[in-house]
Amino acid sequence: MIDTRSDTVTQPTQAMRNAMAQAVVGDDVYGEDPTVNELERLGAEMLGKEAALFVPSGTFGNQLALFTWCPRGTEVVLGESSHVIGHEAGGAAMIAGVQTRTIEAPGNILSAEMIRPRLRRAELHEPATSLIHLENATTAGRAVPLAVMDGVRALADEWHVPIHLDGARIFNAAVALGCQASDIARRADSVMCCLSKGLCAPVGSLLAGPRDFIDRARMKRKVMGGGMRQAGILAAAGIIALTEMTKLIPEDHRRAKNMARGLAKIPALVINPGDVHINMVMFTYPPAQDPVKAASIKEQFAAAGIKILNRKNGGFRFALHHDIDDGAVEKVLAASRAIFV
Ligand SMILES: Cc1ncc(COP(=O)(O)O)c(C=O)c1O
Repeated sequence: MIDTRSDTVTQPTQAMRNAMAQAVVGDDVYGEDPTVNELERLGAEMLGKEAALFVPSGTFGNQLALFTWCPRGTEVVLGESSHVIGHEAGGAAMIAGVQTRTIEAPGNILSAEMIRPRLRRAELHEPATSLIHLENATTAGRAVPLAVMDGVRALADEWHVPIHLDGARIFNAAVALGCQASDIARRADSVMCCLSKGLCAPVGSLLAGPRDFIDRARMKRKVMGGGMRQAGILAAAGIIALTEMTKLIPEDHRRAKNMARGLAKIPALVINPGDVHINMVMFTYPPAQDPVKAASIKEQFAAAGIKILNRKNGGFRFALHHDIDDGAVEKVLAASRAIFV
């Protein structure tokens, strides 16, 4: 099967498997795992932050950031279609105990103008804003221009509110924007980045930020059950994700753009290749054209040996990643031409 549902399906590379087998490990809860320590040092350096913390998943890293920055009962301002709202099972309410104040924004790209009216100071009836939560790249697959982030940074400084960045795919965003990941991360106080997904590590993310924030997060990670003992086995793959796999991201983006251009030639589909910034190709097959066909698109692709993500209202996504080569892109396009006639 060609699995285009997500870049989370990637297999660890042979180099990762070898490094995992040979990793020197220790008890990371005591800070004694040299491989975890090296991953955290390297991650902090690449993200331009004082310190970083290895966490089990991207969701864990985002929730830990909220838990560490936000006093209970305060408010987090974030995009309506951000991962925290859509795909983290209500964790913000359960773990940090915060109220979320969402903003509907095209592509989930939040500007200072959109955020300003949502900020609040504590008052008898109103909670204080304790965090601005951004994404880059966004869940919608967009890279947010640095100038837009600059505007939000200035607003956050004016209000003395920190910014957490969900940078699950920050290295993809950096390639799309033609900058370093640290140029993006610098505009936020803390950043989460995923080592799995397009970077192919089997497990793990990093939460990075100022040293005192990471010290507090380390304790809260323990509260959440994220102290992982001999985690160097996993960190070994994470080091290769950062040092080797980040270099391959431009290939995924090139294939995503080819895919988008090919899909744009199919009249039944709605797609703007200009919206494809990273490795995600989103498109729509308006169901009204043929409701019966629309209901069975996923099955038709499955019959052609292709797994595809079915989104709402006729929306679909192809995610490009290390395990999808040029030949696989051609097969997906041929199947699309046959299915969406
Ligand atoms: C933007 C974004 N943030 C966070 C996550 C969460 O990562 P994980 O699946 O490792 O929990 C994802 C997962 O796909 C994501 O796309």
